[in-house]
Amino acid sequence: MNFTSVKNNKKTINLKNKNNNYEVNAQWLYEHSTNSEIRDNYTNQLLIEAAEIDEHLYVKSAKINKNILQIQFSDNSKHSYQFDYLYNQLESEEFKSKKCLWNKASIKIPKYNFLLINEKMLSDILLSVETFGFCLVRNIPRTKNGLNELMKLIGPVKKTNWGGIADVKNIKKAYDLTMTTRALENHTDNPYRFPTQGYIFLHCIENASIGGENTIVDGFNVAKILRDRHKQFFNTLTTFNTFFRYKDENAWLENKCKLIELDDMNNVIQVRYNNRTELIPFDKNKKIDNYINARRKLWDLIKDKKNNVRIKQRPGDMLILDNYRVLHGRGAYKDTKNRRYFRQGYMDRDIFQSKLKTLAI
Ligand SMILES: [Fe+2]
Repeated sequence: MNFTSVKNNKKTINLKNKNNNYEVNAQWLYEHSTNSEIRDNYTNQLLIEAAEIDEHLYVKSAKINKNILQIQFSDNSKHSYQFDYLYNQLESEEFKSKKCLWNKASIKIPKYNFLLINEKMLSDILLSVETFGFCLVRNIPRTKNGLNELMKLIGPVKKTNWGGIADVKNIKKAYDLTMTTRALENHTDNPYRFPTQGYIFLHCIENASIGGENTIVDGFNVAKILRDRHKQFFNTLTTFNTFFRYKDENAWLENKCKLIELDDMNNVIQVRYNNRTELIPFDKNKKIDNYINARRKLWDLIKDKKNNVRIKQRPGDMLILDNYRVLHGRGAYKDTKNRRYFRQGYMDRDIFQSKLKTLAI
């Protein structure tokens, strides 16, 4: 990216390229210098105390020389800025990815064969989860911790009060309804935690012969439908703080949050839904009424067959789900010999995203 002119206004400079005119603050420029007294050359971390830069700092001279902006500041220090580096700083070098929203009719399930795993495939798996919110990986070893063969290529498993990789199996004294044969309505996992687990790895070692299919729904697509067609409900769900709690003898977890979270640019960044653990906080009747009506509409969309994809996992199949986006559920099952056996692991968002970025760039 070439800058074509620079104009020095002392406390700011005006930089031009063919698309934009940037008014750049002098101290901002000083902080972004790559001079070795300012930033460590290896880590690119700041060495000076930015808050103690001379408040009267100004630009003494500014000129362009080939692909470099040369600045002399009022403290007589000289700094050179490569155009590409400067442009990335001006436009913020955040990783941007594409999201494809889907419903039953539009999605083609992204599938991978773990027997052929290599770095390219790992990158594709992570990108599929980033793009669609999920993918299916076949032929994961059908051993107790077989799912870790893939997870360990991405990063460490998140530990919770239940440990690391955990059983999903019908047991007598179930501490969670997951551990029964009953159907599980679509939900996101553990909204009572902060931060909530970023990703779910659900590995089938053995499935029931009758029932037990997984359902998945694109929460971002559902949120978009709400935003486009039921704006008032969307506004309610993005502003009303509800409450989730999990409590047993040894754990007390709670989180106050919205069913649909937006970032500061009003993009949807997280959808939550967990009927089992929600406790709506007390509020004025009108606000509760609005929330209940909006949540009812959200639930209608979440259970709508048009939005649900059913996947019956075969032994060895692993589903990877973005728990900030995709809701999942399970059909009831019959399993006279109690053979259905799934294992599940969680991963933190930063760990997964870090691997995605290092492989995808
Ligand atoms: Fe779940």
